[in-house]
Amino acid sequence: MGFPIVRHRRLRQSAGIRNMVRETHLNVSDFIQPIYVTYGTGVKQEISSMPGVYRFSLDTLKEEVQEIAELGIPAVLLFGIPDTKDAVGSSAYAENGIVQEATRLIKSWYPDLLVIADTCLCEFTDHGHCGMIHTHERDGHVCVDVLNDESLELLVKTAVSQAEAGADIIAPSNMMDGFVGAIRAGLDEAGFTHIPIMSYSVKYASGFYGPFREAADSAPQYGDRKAYQMDPANAREALREAETDVLEGADMLMVKPSLSYLDVMRTIKDQFDLPLVAYNVSGEYAMVKAAAINGWIDEEKVAMEILLSMKRAGADMIITYYGKDAARWLAVR
Ligand code: PBG
Repeated sequence: MGFPIVRHRRLRQSAGIRNMVRETHLNVSDFIQPIYVTYGTGVKQEISSMPGVYRFSLDTLKEEVQEIAELGIPAVLLFGIPDTKDAVGSSAYAENGIVQEATRLIKSWYPDLLVIADTCLCEFTDHGHCGMIHTHERDGHVCVDVLNDESLELLVKTAVSQAEAGADIIAPSNMMDGFVGAIRAGLDEAGFTHIPIMSYSVKYASGFYGPFREAADSAPQYGDRKAYQMDPANAREALREAETDVLEGADMLMVKPSLSYLDVMRTIKDQFDLPLVAYNVSGEYAMVKAAAINGWIDEEKVAMEILLSMKRAGADMIITYYGKDAARWLAVR
């Protein structure tokens, strides 16, 4: 049976019918809004490569958090830019570290707003790598080894101090082997058996993190992250990464970046039954923003189409710098 009996356009002829047969929906409850927190007072500093995204000091943070909460966005993801950095990222696990302080404040203002803490060292180390490093020279070049097992201990300390400050969910993004298991054991030992781990399970060594590294001042001072983040060419490897995280006790799996990895998201969704998180990263935001500012695309249409594509690929929630805008756009639809 085919044309003229079959006519696909019957189900596209009016808004009413289109709404009725729509397969995928975006909802404000899908979004997680990232926030950059920094030291100082009165800081609300726009990130030049991410127009509309700011670094906030603790005293300017409340207005931003209020806006997010009032829009009905259920969760924020915190990134900290500390005042001091060292080789072992001490500010990441300091009791009065910037993420810890911001977490306490946000939970005191909005107890129901979920605070997700990104657990990594790159914003806190002077060398910008996600763990402890060992450097040596070869043919006049500095070579960097990011030490896996030694770094786990610091990451566990970071996660525990974030939980102590009141973080609702721990989101480790460092890509060391065994990080989920180590953090799970550390949290449990510290009495945080109830705190879920949202694992950055499948995280690629991506050019799309460029604007983030400006925002968080976390670009590696030498070398790159290819020895711990995944090769963009590999999809089957994503299954192995996700599988070990599941075995180590991850509660949610993430694929990052998202837009160029929708195929990987679909595969992970079909193979595993944990909630799946898409991270619509800084570079994906910056591209849309730049084209929109130039008048080359319709920002709302394109941003919403991208977010929808992530839901269609299987995401249960989306970390996105477009969270606030998308919540507003959805409210007037
Ligand atoms: C920390 C981390 C990064 C991002 C989230 N956590 C940067 C990186 O790995 O270099 C990127 C987020 C974004 O681009 O929005 N490791």
